[in-house]
Amino acid sequence: MTLRKIAKMGHPVLLEPARPVTDIGDPEVQRLIDDMVETLADAGGIGLAAPQVYAPLRLVLALQIEDRSERGTAEPLVLVNPELVSLTEELELAFEGCLSIPGLRGRVPRHRRVGYRALDRRGRPVAGEATGLFARVLQHEVDHLDGILYPMRMSDLRHLAFDETMPHLSAWIARQGDEGP
Ligand code: NI
Repeated sequence: MTLRKIAKMGHPVLLEPARPVTDIGDPEVQRLIDDMVETLADAGGIGLAAPQVYAPLRLVLALQIEDRSERGTAEPLVLVNPELVSLTEELELAFEGCLSIPGLRGRVPRHRRVGYRALDRRGRPVAGEATGLFARVLQHEVDHLDGILYPMRMSDLRHLAFDETMPHLSAWIARQGDEGP
């Protein structure tokens, strides 16, 4: 396995729709999955989409966790050609980051509950429902497959901050009478 370089915001590979995986058994695809698993663990992230490692394919990894503190305890779910449906109109605001946008966090509205359908790394169908952080990660990663980065989903760009200014922004948001992150 090899660590892959992560594309940063501004690289066109992150701005274009990815194409479906047609041959999951292709050794190149299997190697890509192995490398993505290693790259995600090394970066300490909770999700990774293939375009982020310069592979424009519809393939994502997502940690099936409820809380960021569980990072490192779970093997990522591998979803090939994933499709999402929102199961509630209800949107939830929370801060998220992206390995392609290091050092920044933004407060992004996402559906609270989504259903997913995909193939696993052996080509078997998988499906399920996700809520909370897991639902957020899935929406974030599948957006990558459509060339969408989280700032493009933000409803209020004032809620974009550097990691080190997050406490100040959170306090400011709380003072506005809005709920904090
Ligand atoms: Ni991302």
